[in-house]
Amino acid sequence: MRLENKIALVTAAASGMGRAGVIRFAQEGARVAAVDIDQAALDAVVKEVADAGGNAVAIRADLTKDEDCHRIVDDTVEAFGGLDLLWNHVGHPGPSAVEDIDPDDYEIAMDLNVRSVFMTSGRAIPQLRKRGGGSILFTASIAGLIGSPFSPVYSAAKWGVNGMMASLAGRLANDNIRVNSVCPGVVDTPMLNVFMARPDQETDRDTNLAMMRKLTPLGREAQPEEIANAALFLLSDEASYITGVALPVDGGFVSK
Ligand SMILES: NC(=O)c1ccc[n+]([C@@H]2O[C@H](COP(=O)([O-])OP(=O)(O)OC[C@H]3O[C@@H](n4cnc5c(N)ncnc54)[C@H](O)[C@@H]3O)[C@@H](O)[C@H]2O)c1
Repeated sequence: MRLENKIALVTAAASGMGRAGVIRFAQEGARVAAVDIDQAALDAVVKEVADAGGNAVAIRADLTKDEDCHRIVDDTVEAFGGLDLLWNHVGHPGPSAVEDIDPDDYEIAMDLNVRSVFMTSGRAIPQLRKRGGGSILFTASIAGLIGSPFSPVYSAAKWGVNGMMASLAGRLANDNIRVNSVCPGVVDTPMLNVFMARPDQETDRDTNLAMMRKLTPLGREAQPEEIANAALFLLSDEASYITGVALPVDGGFVSK
């Protein structure tokens, strides 16, 4: 198994790609701390893992709060005795407005995409060092590689995530800690509907989705498991010489 004896923490774990990651990592032998604000959905994921013979615990947290970002690391260490792999997956689409932006909308997007990830990573690093190294993965986006005209705050935040990733890759290499990010394109999760149907967009969800499919060389959106597979690879020892990489998992979207 590819994650045997590893202890993993996944945020935004109750839905979409995070949920797929918890299930996939547990299949590969990891003990997984699944973190989310949605307790009921989290319990369902953990039960699914247990029913399949895996080992996961649910940790409820509101990752807009610094104390929760710290506590999830402490709770993981308490549950499993350490931490090897951290997938900072939580994020927020943010508003599409610029001229008349609501500061609260700006703040929650920056908090969930950048601040929470910074806080969680900071708490996790000493734990990874204690284990002799480890692997940190961020979820950025194609919007963190190119500019999304529909999501200016989100683009700013995800470029920030990739900047943080690159900085930490250099900073932590001597600690045997690898740091990378996945940059998903269009992925079939509840969040996709937010991106495709913002109130101030002129065209409707189906039109927007059709346009995104047309702009994607593979011609379709990803399933969450396809991103989880990339996350599994980057977190695993199979990627032992890969650090500082922002990997598009986007059906070719940014290749054109
Ligand atoms: N879906 C896409 O097309 C897409 C594309 C690129 C990047 N992403 C990124 O992927 C990540 C998650 O996306 P997804 O599509 O898997 O999402 P999703 O909508 O399937 O799940 C989001 C999860 O985040 C949880 N959450 C929300 N607020 C929280 C909070 N304050 N504290 C803790 N948990 C909270 C929700 O309960 C939910 O379970 C984000 O970083 C997002 O920016 C998504």
